[in-house]
This record gives sequence, structure tokens and C-alpha cells, in this order.
Amino acid sequence: MKSTLERENPVASWQEVTLVYNAALKQVNTKLEILNDEFQHVHQYNPIEHIKSRIKTSESIVKKLKRYGYESTIENMVKYVNDIAGIRVICSFTSDIYRIAGMIRNMSDIRVVAIKDYIRNPKPSGYKSYHMIVTVPVFLSDRTVDVKVEIQIRTVAMDFWASLEHKMNYKFEGNAPEAIRKELIECARMVSELDDRMLSLNEEIQAMGEDED
Ligand code: GTP
Ligand code: MG
Repeated sequence: MKSTLERENPVASWQEVTLVYNAALKQVNTKLEILNDEFQHVHQYNPIEHIKSRIKTSESIVKKLKRYGYESTIENMVKYVNDIAGIRVICSFTSDIYRIAGMIRNMSDIRVVAIKDYIRNPKPSGYKSYHMIVTVPVFLSDRTVDVKVEIQIRTVAMDFWASLEHKMNYKFEGNAPEAIRKELIECARMVSELDDRMLSLNEEIQAMGEDED
């Protein structure tokens, strides 16, 4: 019988949670690598530049639960923290983001729980990225559990911006000087413009190649 981790209570230990989330990360990583390889084979093109994945530290999970106002229990972690397992997919072009998201959505064993499109609707900070919370089945010796994974899909330029903005927030603990915040918003605008121009340029280059054939 299929069950979600939160219904599969009591989840014995933090080690068990880590094991299951690690397995989910491996599953999604492999799926993305296969997609990329197959895409290369069919279209002679890699939509994925690189993939980063991580398991959230227990300290960060506890901090997040506190922020949400929940007690630090394993049950609450599994239920309320959607990004215990996180994967970041970095692409060259904005069009690749939607292509990859579509391919993930079409996988029959993946269930999409939530989508936040911060590309069409950027955050006030200027943050852009495409977020998906999905569940993937993990087959254990005596049961199958659906495990949540947060997938963030963004371009190289968006990733560059998000890293610096994250560093700023960390350093100033959310109270960054106005001038720096404004400069970052301006940089976000430039990132969007760069992504748009690189996409157009790429399309132009590809169309030229087709004419020559
Ligand atoms: P948390 O922000 O993680 O509590 O969850 P949420 O429910 O608000 O989800 P959201 O999709 O807004 O953010 C999830 C993750 O996206 C964060 O943990 C960050 O990794 C990233 N993120 C969201 N907003 C920003 C932002 O303004 N700047 C940067 N650098 N990263 C962001
Ligand atoms: Mg947030």
C-alpha cells in the first residue's frame, strides 16, 4: 500500500528520515539526468547546465518549524517543511525551464503538489525562479512512501543573482541598506533583460543554422 511519510507515523528517527529523503533526491536526480541525456540524443542539445542537490540540515529545519510556530517533532518536519530534500536545476535559457518543468509534470510516478512561478511573478526583491514541490515514490523493504522534494529551476543568470541576494540577506539578517537593495533590484532587471536577449540570440543563431542546411 502506498502511503505518504506523514501518514506513516511514527517515523522512527532522524536517521530514517534522512535516509528516505536522500533516496528521494537520488530518484529525482536520476530522472533529470536521464531527461538531459535523452534530450541530448534526440535534439543534440542539453537543456540542463548543472544540478545541485542538498538535504536541509536539522538545525535549519528546526529554525523553520519555529518560524512557522510548530513544535520540533519529526512528524511536523515531514508534514510542514517542504524543502527537506531540495534540488536546483540550472539552465541556459528561460525556455529550458518550462520545458523541464513540463517533462517533470509528465512523469507518471511524480505528483506535483505545488507550483510557484516566480519568473512570471517575480518577488518584490527581484527574485526569479520556478519552484515545484513534488512527491516521488521511494520503495522500501516493506512499504512505499511518497516523499516531498522541492525543485527550483532557474537560469544561470537567475542563479548568479539569487546567490548574491542570499549572501546579502544572510549578512544583514534581512535588514540590508536601502541602496544595496535598490542596486540588487536593478541587477534583477538586467538579469531578466540578459535572459531575454540571450534567448532571442540563441533562436536567431539556430534559425541561421537551419537556413544553411
Ligand atoms: P521558505 O521561503 O523556504 O520558507 O518557503 P516558502 O513557502 O516561502 O517558499 P518559496 O517558494 O517562497 O521559497 C523557497 C525557497 O526559494 C527558499 O528557501 C529559497 O531557497 C528560495 N527563495 C525564495 N525567495 C527568495 C528570495 O527572495 N531570494 C533568494 N535568494 N532566494 C529565495
Ligand atoms: Mg520564502
